[in-house]
Amino acid sequence: MCQVKVLSGMRPTGKLHIGHLFGALTLWKDLQEKHDTYFFVADWHALTTDFRNPSKINENTVEMVADWIAAGINPEKSLIYRQSLVKEHAELHLLLSMIVPLSWLERNPTYKEVLENLKKQSSSRYEEIRTYGFLGYPVLQTVDIIIYKAERVPVGADQLPHLELAREIVRRFNYLYGETFPEPQPILTRFPKVPGIDGRKMSKSYNNAIYISDEPEEIKRKVSVMFTDPLRPYRKDPGHPENCPVFALHSLITPEEELNQLKKDCKSAKIGCKDCKLFLSKKLIAYLEPYRERRKEALEQKNYIEEVLIEGSRKAREEASANLDEARRKMGMP
Ligand code: TRP
Ligand code: SF4
Repeated sequence: MCQVKVLSGMRPTGKLHIGHLFGALTLWKDLQEKHDTYFFVADWHALTTDFRNPSKINENTVEMVADWIAAGINPEKSLIYRQSLVKEHAELHLLLSMIVPLSWLERNPTYKEVLENLKKQSSSRYEEIRTYGFLGYPVLQTVDIIIYKAERVPVGADQLPHLELAREIVRRFNYLYGETFPEPQPILTRFPKVPGIDGRKMSKSYNNAIYISDEPEEIKRKVSVMFTDPLRPYRKDPGHPENCPVFALHSLITPEEELNQLKKDCKSAKIGCKDCKLFLSKKLIAYLEPYRERRKEALEQKNYIEEVLIEGSRKAREEASANLDEARRKMGMP
């Protein structure tokens, strides 16, 4: 198999939940076994919204990388690093900022959506977030990818507009200064909609998440209060598993056969929701056990995660620096 260069990053928002696990991380792990993989902490991107509390970003970085390692992202197989330790990103960002038309950034749907939502909620927060750096978020994201000449980028569907913009920027650079960077293509995440315990999309901000690091008791408690099929108020009513968040979580970890049986038993009211939930929490606890172990191990070794990030960033820097040199040369800059 030919070695394709695959790259992705996450903003450090703290501990990761099982939406991240089944969304991004299991895909990252598979890609790691087949390709040349780069995974980085987008801590400068986190500053766009968290600039009042930058020290929190450090703590969040360690928690997040612990979850990556828990999920089997292996520093010996993947390059794991921190954006802010690879200063070359900043120089290429500056160079690109000269050739990216403002109109491309202003029409970016993610940018518009975030601002529109903020405007409705709080006008002071809106003014606060509407910064130069926030507008340039996708330019920095483009740099993250192309400074390693990465070809494939695993992301959720929400990131597709950013990738489209990255390709436009690459075409513009290549047109102006000669063929330099490849156009990055997305790899879509497989399970985009992991529901949280209230049935909405699992998200830290909704307070409905089950974390990779949750202890068994915590998992039991969260599953026991989960929303179920709203059309099944009584034990004797037939259920609609396709409309039940408990079933959606089952389907992530329960083998096909058992799942089909469960579906039948729910539809025929043979099994009640209480038992179904007990079954789920048992399965989840067992499933997450090795993840919790690996996470603990990584955090117990003093400075292990910091060292992984420093060593990874050192290697990333050699490559970024060579590609930045090339870009500078193509532009005719000293
Ligand atoms: N914007 C991405 C997110 O919010 C994070 C990110 C930053 C990223 N740079 C990237 C993802 C480069 C992929 C490639 O999820
Ligand atoms: Fe959902 Fe399970 Fe209850 Fe069916 S039995 S409605 S799948 S919780």
